[in-house]
Amino acid sequence: MEHFLELSTLVNERLDVLMPPVTTRPTRLHEAMRYSIFSGGKRFRPALFLTTAQSLDLNVEKYLSIACVFEMIHTYSLIHDDLPAFDNDDFRRGKPSNHKVFGEATAVLAGDALLTLAFQLLADQHETLPSEPLFAVMQEISRASGTVNALIGGQQLDIESEGKDVHEEIVDYIHQAKTGALITATVKSAGFFASLDVDSSARLAGYGRNVGLVFQITDDILDIEATSSRLGKTAGKDQKMKKATFPAIHGVEKSRKIAHELTDEAIHRISFLKEKGERLREIARFVLKRTY
Ligand code: IPE
Ligand code: IPE
Ligand code: MG
Ligand code: MG
Ligand code: MG
Repeated sequence: MEHFLELSTLVNERLDVLMPPVTTRPTRLHEAMRYSIFSGGKRFRPALFLTTAQSLDLNVEKYLSIACVFEMIHTYSLIHDDLPAFDNDDFRRGKPSNHKVFGEATAVLAGDALLTLAFQLLADQHETLPSEPLFAVMQEISRASGTVNALIGGQQLDIESEGKDVHEEIVDYIHQAKTGALITATVKSAGFFASLDVDSSARLAGYGRNVGLVFQITDDILDIEATSSRLGKTAGKDQKMKKATFPAIHGVEKSRKIAHELTDEAIHRISFLKEKGERLREIARFVLKRTY
């Protein structure tokens, strides 16, 4: 998606401005933060936020720092997710994982630092963005990063469910929480800045929830079907670790079917955007069909 590439270039440029330079003490920590941020992620979350903003007639330039906030929180979650205490993964984004290069202590702190910097940057935006939607966005992002139906809560249940026969309702919860919540927060945040009415906000949030869930279902399927070099991370790990995944519960075919239905529903939910929703529809289809 060409449009996606353009947005990720803008996001990368802004990230470089926002991240502390490696020459600033503690240099090794700043190096570790930059190592993971600039190791080549898809920039899916910032691009989804900016695309939603564009669909709602907002100016991309004005919201670039908010877009970066999503990428910082996501990258922190990946650094911690790869630690030996979690998924114990040696590769991420085509390179050795953060703790493999910098050691566990620095990797933990680099994750903590990215999360903290994200919230500092959010607060800093009061200089350029109206306070009322900004507060709503800060509330939404902190909620989505937290424990109740949110990222940290999802990671906790993901770890607790390893090696267990869990009910499909639990896998649903884990996926919505560990991955869906932050993705949903990106589209909801754009809605807040655009002062969207209650009904349209709910539809947009519904789109986000479905796309977020599909994103993790396709991540699970790719872990089975794609190669490590294509993914930039070690494939086949989920089965080895007996992770609670969609394919483990439903099989690959049924998982694909569920993902398909969720995508159709997501596309239907944003019909109110008419032709302005075309790029969001494209993103929903990309998430379903993605090969990396
Ligand atoms: C991987 O996310 C972890 C999940 C939440 C599924 P991405 O597939 O967005 O990873 P990057 O950012 O492109 O590396
Ligand atoms: C990661 O899920 C979700 C978060 C980091 C919040 P996974 O453990 O499936 O992600 P990958 O496959 O390591 O990228
Ligand atoms: Mg994990
Ligand atoms: Mg993992
Ligand atoms: Mg995975």
